Amino acid sequence: MTSAERRAAELRRLLNRAIHAYYVLDAPDLSDAEYDTLYRELQTLEEEHPALRAPDSPTLRVGAEPSKAFRKHTHLSPMLSLGNAFSDEELAAWEQKLLRYLGASAVRGGYTAELKIDGAAVSVTYRDGVLLTGATRGNGMLGEDVTANLRTVRDVPLRLQGDDVPPLVEVRGEVYLPFDRFERMNEERAAAGELVFANPRNAAAGALRQLDPAVTARRPLRFFGYAFAAPPGAKLPFQTQWDLLETLARWGVPIAPHRLRCARLAEVHTHARDIEQRIRGDLNFAIDGLVVKADSLTLQDEAGVVGGREPRWAVARKFAPDIAETRLLDIQVNVGRTGALNPYAVLEPVEIGGTTVKLATLHNEELVRRKGLRIGDIVQVKRAGEVIPQIIAPVPEKRTGDEREWHMPSSCPVCGTPVERDEEEVAVYCPNVGCPGRRLEGLVHFTSQAAMDIRGLSYQRLRQLVDAGLVKDAADLYDLTVPQLSELDRLAEKSAQNLVDAIRESKTRPLSRLLNGFGIRHVGTNAADLLARRFGTLDTLLKAPEEVIAQVRGIGPVIAASVARWLADPRARALIEKLRKRGLTFVEPEIAPADGPLRGQTFVLTGSLPSLSRGEATKRIEAAGGTVSGSVSKKTTAVIAGDEPGSKLDKAKDLGIQVWDEKELLHRLP
Ligand code: IVH
Repeated sequence: MTSAERRAAELRRLLNRAIHAYYVLDAPDLSDAEYDTLYRELQTLEEEHPALRAPDSPTLRVGAEPSKAFRKHTHLSPMLSLGNAFSDEELAAWEQKLLRYLGASAVRGGYTAELKIDGAAVSVTYRDGVLLTGATRGNGMLGEDVTANLRTVRDVPLRLQGDDVPPLVEVRGEVYLPFDRFERMNEERAAAGELVFANPRNAAAGALRQLDPAVTARRPLRFFGYAFAAPPGAKLPFQTQWDLLETLARWGVPIAPHRLRCARLAEVHTHARDIEQRIRGDLNFAIDGLVVKADSLTLQDEAGVVGGREPRWAVARKFAPDIAETRLLDIQVNVGRTGALNPYAVLEPVEIGGTTVKLATLHNEELVRRKGLRIGDIVQVKRAGEVIPQIIAPVPEKRTGDEREWHMPSSCPVCGTPVERDEEEVAVYCPNVGCPGRRLEGLVHFTSQAAMDIRGLSYQRLRQLVDAGLVKDAADLYDLTVPQLSELDRLAEKSAQNLVDAIRESKTRPLSRLLNGFGIRHVGTNAADLLARRFGTLDTLLKAPEEVIAQVRGIGPVIAASVARWLADPRARALIEKLRKRGLTFVEPEIAPADGPLRGQTFVLTGSLPSLSRGEATKRIEAAGGTVSGSVSKKTTAVIAGDEPGSKLDKAKDLGIQVWDEKELLHRLP
């Protein structure tokens, strides 16, 4: 093997692994910049030595093979990828190539420059204006059918408005998670001891490929449309990219802001600078550049596609990431509402993208270890939009030998109780339910919108109440009176009355909100919903043995152990009784099981069904009065098996339990 051959093989291996990690596992193992560098190196090698082009070269494909769990969706036409330009010069070089190819002296009609949204690409098919299917990009030709999940994205229109919508169209665009939502989600995950997402794109891509659409629905995903596909010969009401965007907007598809029609490339350069320096920091979603497209669709057709992968007529003008180097002065620890100890970085103040950064999140000990951070290190810090700054990596070359390793404290920094950790968990906890460090955070969570939803209780106000000694636990909120509140700083009697009303009104909130509000480790909105739906009242849950809790679909042994432990804690019991005395209702309304042909029957799903997704099958079974369980037991009515069933099928056969296919199930559903 020549050295070029060896290097090409190595690059193919690295890139293919990265593609798999990114698209299939949703767990990138290379940064975008690293990927781009390796990719370009391989591209150059292959251009210089065409004989090195192997059939498995990542330069020949877009994305990765779709994973097995979803049905496949064939795109009307390939969903393309984009070449990159990292500077004005590279962008000018791209234009030169385009002009040479077209043989034109100027690109007729100029360019459209759009934000390059850093999310997950999807294609949404509409028949007669009605949403039919939604799919991920997959390998560009074949995506994954994630219709049920895409339906939960609230700004993907279910019907296109307008009398010029062609009979069959694919609207293409990007699903993304806004920064503020991403932050909140990660905080909740960290508090619950779950792994946090590295960035909003991974969180969005992960949510989109959830097997249970209910999980997707809880991640507040958003959508921007930017492209279009229709069968050959379709009559389209636009001739330029600009008009395409305007048309999509008219049909009700959200379009990203800050798009610009540019007569010449110089305007694109200026726009790119403006976006990068002035606009980017204020956006509530991640972008990693601009997409520059020849505006005329006729020209786009003429220009065509290189190697089936990248269009000649479009390019990604990438931005430099907002990164700076500074010193990690210290690692300190916060106590969250569940008692989770969350480390954060104290940095030597540094300016990144126009703001001074002094702190960065570290989320948990695992992250510190994984990044190999030492106190005193020079570190690379990244800030994207409004996201709390993150440490990318230390710069080991700049070490002096004086750096020291950091370890999680062995006792709570607030109350001194020895910390606890579970074997598999990434987080460390203060086990003291009465820890003052947990109190305020706990009250903030209890009163938050996702829990008891008590309006008017801001962080500041809760802090005042705690400091004044008026509130020690959640139940104390219900004893507050108007005169007490009016005595607090700047609270007029009218506002105090409103607050008392809002607190009283929260007494009838559903059990699911209360359970979420308790801040039990591992119990967020999702688990709280499942528990509330299964048990109906707090008293039923209080009586349930741990094994029974563990059998609730979606709960499992870890959450069950945490719930059982919390419920058994005398301090938790005391809080519950105190809340009961204040008149909280503790019930989940509308949990009466649906009345239907499957009432009282329990099913287990295994393998992938030919037409229903797991989430859809579950919904339909539940709507017919049945329940779906995660494991086979003697009580199982039937196992519903699809393609590539797992061990559940063997177990069903061992126990002599009926096995149905999807057809059988559909036959029995109303
Ligand atoms: S156009 C030419 N427009 O960037 C067809 N793509 O690296 C390519 N993207 O897969 C799509 N914002 O996921 C286009 N305004 C935009 C975009 C955009 C983000 C993504 C898209 C694509 C990737 C290419």
